[in-house]
Amino acid sequence: MPRLTDRTQTGIPGMDELLDGGIPRGNLVVLAGDPGSGKTCFCLEYLYNGAMNFNEPGIYISLEESYDEIIRNGKEFGYELEDLIKKKMLMIETVELYDFEKLKNLIEDSIQVIKAKRLVIDPGVIFRLYFDRELDARKRIMSLGKMLKQIDCTTVITNEINLDKTRSLFGLEEYVADGVLLLYHTKIENRFVRSLGVLKMRGTKISEKLHPVTIGPTGIKVLSKQELFEDI
Ligand SMILES: Nc1ncnc2c1ncn2[C@@H]1O[C@H](COP(=O)(O)OP(=O)(O)OP(=O)(O)O)[C@@H](O)[C@H]1O
Ligand SMILES: [Mg+2]
Repeated sequence: MPRLTDRTQTGIPGMDELLDGGIPRGNLVVLAGDPGSGKTCFCLEYLYNGAMNFNEPGIYISLEESYDEIIRNGKEFGYELEDLIKKKMLMIETVELYDFEKLKNLIEDSIQVIKAKRLVIDPGVIFRLYFDRELDARKRIMSLGKMLKQIDCTTVITNEINLDKTRSLFGLEEYVADGVLLLYHTKIENRFVRSLGVLKMRGTKISEKLHPVTIGPTGIKVLSKQELFEDI
């Protein structure tokens, strides 16, 4: 098992076990999932745990939800995010700029301010709107990834996938990402079952199975010891 100091522990129950201890420090990870699959819950818990349990300040760049909505989302799971903001352990930036360079500068500046070790961009799928050409997009996102790696900031970017169109899964973020996590609603008989899989994580021995996920009053949980389709 790698040294834990080389890993950013998500602290999400069951998650780090599937990643050989956590996300390699400084990696850029895409968290892809269908609507309502728990991407935002995952991101909030990742930053909250970082601030509360690992003394790692984090930044949440919201490209969709407002500041108030994010604070409210947090409250639902008992996270007092505004306390963390006051303690400079968390920054929430809501961005409506359709200019990638400005976004990159904002990220760089925010990281400096609180010496952030964790970054979330949610939903990152909006990146596509910044660019006309895919090559351009890849180059610029790669340069963002490089900058984040240099300062050892472990990043989660969310991406939306459609249950029916698995082809859209392999967007540009996945090509430039060090890791890809997938959140699914799988239809089993007459209901949806939440699950998570690790599609890739550079430099990490990963579980190749889909594991059930629950979302409850304390947040998201990955049932790492249980496989989907096993006991359901
Ligand atoms: N306390 C709770 N108990 C059970 N389920 C909850 C609780 N709070 C939220 N949920 C559910 O968690 C789900 C995941 O929400 P979340 O916003 O994280 O999904 P998402 O993948 O970010 O969705 P979107 O694509 O719309 O951004 C929602 O469907 C919501 O109903
Ligand atoms: Mg969301």
